[in-house]
Amino acid sequence: MPVTAATRLMYPDPEAIRTAAACLAAGGLVAFPTETVYGLGADATNAAAVARLYAAKGRPSFNPLIAHVEDLAAARRLAQFDAAAERLAQVFWPGPLTLVLQKAPGCAVAELATAGLDTIALRAPDHPVAHALLAAFGKPVVAPSANRSGHVSPTTAAHVLADLGGLIDLVLDAGPTRVGIESTIVACLGETTLLRPGGVPREDIERVLKRPLDEAAPPPASEGEEPLAPGMLASHYAPRATLRRDATDVAAGEALLAFGPRLPRGADRASAVLNLSPRGDLIEAAANLFSHLRALDASGAATIAVMPVPQYGLGAAINDRLARAAAPRRARP
Ligand code: TXA
Ligand code: MG
Repeated sequence: MPVTAATRLMYPDPEAIRTAAACLAAGGLVAFPTETVYGLGADATNAAAVARLYAAKGRPSFNPLIAHVEDLAAARRLAQFDAAAERLAQVFWPGPLTLVLQKAPGCAVAELATAGLDTIALRAPDHPVAHALLAAFGKPVVAPSANRSGHVSPTTAAHVLADLGGLIDLVLDAGPTRVGIESTIVACLGETTLLRPGGVPREDIERVLKRPLDEAAPPPASEGEEPLAPGMLASHYAPRATLRRDATDVAAGEALLAFGPRLPRGADRASAVLNLSPRGDLIEAAANLFSHLRALDASGAATIAVMPVPQYGLGAAINDRLARAAAPRRARP
């Protein structure tokens, strides 16, 4: 594991953006805010930098990365847009939508970043700091969520440091992220397939396409098995505590992750309570999901009881992340 002696934390003023771009150009690792979660950026065209990124994350190398671009023009140099991709990029970029597309001939992104696939995941993030960094750097930046592989995604710079402090060069701190849950991933490869629910609700995408999205193959049971589609590991986003979902009561000593104004029976016995959205708003709940999971995990409770969250809108992405966090997994130190 490469070790960076100290990770610098910088307020993202123009000087820090220049420093961060120079760091990327030198093959360094820079964590930066996007509207979804903090990403861990590396020069997408530099295989050695990408290898360093996989090592810092502890990520299985078969799991490919999203290349972040400034805009649609930059994306067109890397991939082939079919009609659906064109339409989705026009409507949702910049924003929390990742498109998986056929690579363009001469695509400059390192093979290692796409795990040897002939497709590539692309996204133009909607955050002024991400945009400034991409503009200053002038090349695509691969960026997975800036957490150790299998951990909960970071929505603050403090989360990034807790996982990756000492392993990366720089963190640009712009406060908590707005959306709080990762981008929606849609493959546009002839068929138009939802690979991961996320920050753009499925309903919004289907309204634009005027047809339903195809379903991805179901995920394999656990990490370590060959994934059917990359990134579709069942156990992911995992806190240390066990998650008990759809809880309608709380046992003594359990922590409670609540949603909405009415708490379940036994809530007064909970060792800790955090509410995703006391008014039952799914957008607010998505923004709070990962930081609340981290905080309840840190409270030391062995089990986190999670109230039911509706399945529409951003609820689909929230339930997807909760299901992965609750999935059986191999023991971690
Ligand atoms: O919101 C987000 O998407 C954040 C921010 C930082 O942009 N990034 C993020 O990256 O969530 P990551 O690496 O944690 O998740 C990317 C997912 C992985 O599940 C990966 O397997 C999938 O995208 N992916 C990447 N390239 C792919 C490809 N060519 N085909 C299918 N899936 C792909
Ligand atoms: Mg991730």
